[in-house]
Amino acid sequence: MKFNIGIIGAGAMGNGIAHTFAQHNYSVLLVDINSKLLEKSIKLIEQNMDRQVKKNIITAENKKNFIKNITCNTDISLLKKSDLVIEAVTESLNVKSDIFKKLDKLCPEHTIFATNTSSISITKIAAQTNRPDRVIGMHFMNPVPVMKLVEVIRGYLTSDATLQKICDISKSLNKIPIECNDYPGFVANRILMPMINEAIYCKMEGVAETESIDQIMKLGMAHPMGPLALADLIGLDVCLAILEVLYEEMGDSKYSPCPLLKKMVNAGVLGRKTGRGFYKY
Ligand code: NAI
Repeated sequence: MKFNIGIIGAGAMGNGIAHTFAQHNYSVLLVDINSKLLEKSIKLIEQNMDRQVKKNIITAENKKNFIKNITCNTDISLLKKSDLVIEAVTESLNVKSDIFKKLDKLCPEHTIFATNTSSISITKIAAQTNRPDRVIGMHFMNPVPVMKLVEVIRGYLTSDATLQKICDISKSLNKIPIECNDYPGFVANRILMPMINEAIYCKMEGVAETESIDQIMKLGMAHPMGPLALADLIGLDVCLAILEVLYEEMGDSKYSPCPLLKKMVNAGVLGRKTGRGFYKY
């Protein structure tokens, strides 16, 4: 029997996660507080699947059936039928804590809670529930349908059975799960964010223009994308939130967010999602 999947948060990540599960024939319920965002999300999934049809990754018939696997709603209580809930809301411990407290009351005992957080402690999130053994980090990469990695993060009390189940489900999505322990930013963002932050310092200090910074890192380090373009893809607000967690938790000034990043976020210049970041879209 395939798991019923609940996803909460239909932003950049939630919609990619929904797309990927639907494409592997899971039944998906996608929940967000914003009904307009849900409509936008389904349209985006359709567009992205159209692209897969053009590239012969899936057929037009597949696309029709995959889309039917997704239901959208603004009512969180419908998640009570899920066997696995993946949380992909705003990167804020308060917002996530409220959701996990609600989910813990709503969902049956067997339901596993996974969070797609980029940096917040899995152990802290799990402590909001009465099932810390069934709470885990399932960190997908952006764009989810394309990227192979799932960083699987074990909280202090996460059980072996939960870890195994999440690794098995990740493999069923044709992803590669890699385990790590619960430290701020885990592995991916602990290494990536200081690099992005340093690239923003280079821009702020006039070391080079945006395009040059990105080209130097692409051509010199064989990165597929420059750090400033990647920051725009991730979302500058998300980058700032992750750096703030790293700085607060590690107490080391090397993680202190660059003033230019803060200024851009204050101005509402958030990258691709607002049409403008280090580049215009
Ligand atoms: P986003 O800002 O694009 O989307 C967040 C969504 O959460 C919005 O649609 C918002 O309406 C919804 N939301 C907020 N509060 C809610 C609530 N109480 N109930 C239901 N929905 C609510 O954010 P994004 O980029 O999708 O990030 C989501 C999570 O994934 C964050 O924890 C982030 O750190 C993580 N992440 C982000 C990556 C990226 O490249 N953007 C990569 C990997 C993880």
